[in-house]
Amino acid sequence: MSNNHSVSVVAIDGPSASGKSTVSKRVAQELKFTYVDSGSLYRGMTWKALRESVNIGQPEQVLDLMNRMKLEFYAENRVVLFTIDGEDPGLQLRSEPVRENVADIAAIPGVRAFLVARLQEMVRFGDIVMEGRDIGTVVFPESPFKYYLDADPEERARRRSLELKNMEGVGDVSKVLDSLTRRDKKDSTRKTAPLQIALGAKVINSTSMTIEEVVAQIVAEVRAALGT
Ligand code: CDP
Repeated sequence: MSNNHSVSVVAIDGPSASGKSTVSKRVAQELKFTYVDSGSLYRGMTWKALRESVNIGQPEQVLDLMNRMKLEFYAENRVVLFTIDGEDPGLQLRSEPVRENVADIAAIPGVRAFLVARLQEMVRFGDIVMEGRDIGTVVFPESPFKYYLDADPEERARRRSLELKNMEGVGDVSKVLDSLTRRDKKDSTRKTAPLQIALGAKVINSTSMTIEEVVAQIVAEVRAALGT
């Protein structure tokens, strides 16, 4: 790492429901690194904007709120969590209004600049596994451990609808596919830090792999490189 030689960062990017979260959490557990879900910050910002009834179509209103709110991070069992104005958004981060608006919030350059800086500071927690959309391209481009996790859209919709069924009792696959496709399109075509494969990133298509196989591959490569 260029900014801190003693800290390792495993960067895992990819589209929605590509298996990133599950894989990243398990890789972090196995390596005993701290897990950071960068998407939860973009979701947190969205949650706060909705709750304060800020007009998301007005970036200056969003930025004004961002500059006023107090964002605090802490690690619990090697997972980075945060509060906004003292409140933990918890499961509300996965609610429908948040997931339908987060890609618009994440497309605002000022929001990205602010959150990228916070994400870069996470090295204070030590070795980390960070998942997101631009971790290998923008947040930690110098990391030797960059992965791009992908899976076919139908498989991703199937996985996400299972998650939603567990959480909300409903999760129609074709509706989920529509929603994911819309968000992927926004994420891949936005001007600032669109989702793309980072230079030097290893692409893993997990469509026909188990989570265990993907985790094992990443853990083995990191261990081999670090000699641990
Ligand atoms: O869980 P899922 O993959 O569906 O989404 P997430 O990782 O929680 O990210 C939610 C949204 O935040 C994405 O669709 C992006 O719009 C945005 N995001 C981003 O722009 N950059 C990141 N590094 C992480 C998330």
